[in-house]
Amino acid sequence: MVRPEPSEATAMDELFARNRAWAERMRARDPEFFTRLAGQQAPRLLWIGCADSRVAANQLLDLDPGTVFVHRNIANLVIHTDINMLSVLQFAVEILRVPQVVVCGHYGCGGVRAAMADRQLGLIDNWLRHIKDVYDQHAAELDGIADPGRREDRLVELNVLHQTLHVARSTVVQNAWADGRRLEIRAWVYGLEDGLLRDLGYRVRGPEEIGAIYRMMGGGVT
Ligand code: CO
Repeated sequence: MVRPEPSEATAMDELFARNRAWAERMRARDPEFFTRLAGQQAPRLLWIGCADSRVAANQLLDLDPGTVFVHRNIANLVIHTDINMLSVLQFAVEILRVPQVVVCGHYGCGGVRAAMADRQLGLIDNWLRHIKDVYDQHAAELDGIADPGRREDRLVELNVLHQTLHVARSTVVQNAWADGRRLEIRAWVYGLEDGLLRDLGYRVRGPEEIGAIYRMMGGGVT
């Protein structure tokens, strides 16, 4: 076994000490909090956000554990072959029966910035390619924005709008709608500089909004 360096051990000890103090505070506020949550979770929201350490879903919503089901990856992408994201989506919609899915991007996203550049970064280039595809679809608008910062902010927003639509096009969401469930997919952006969320005003509430080619009937393959 590798013994941790003293400084590393101290840092780890500090994390565990912080955890104990937090659990103690939670219990002091609500003695039944953990026992209740251990029995059942009932989140009202699936959050699909960026893995960026500054965009911590529960913390910026000021919500306790048990309230938000979370999937995070670099640049909050919803890729229809990503079994990780799809499994989270299926569990949230079919088992937890969340009524809301939010895709939340953020200004100053390193993933979006990297996708706008032309330098290879390795494996991640294949992931960021999806953002280049969004840029390419909106090149006329984006190329027309002279200020690089504003152009990047706009790509952040366009990326969120595309990923929101991708959620809605999934068979998981289409099946929930076919069952008569109310399920809304929303697009938000978070500002690192002010800690505030913006609602982009785009929401998808039914199959008529996802484009005809993406609409599918249930019932499996015959
Ligand atoms: Co990001």
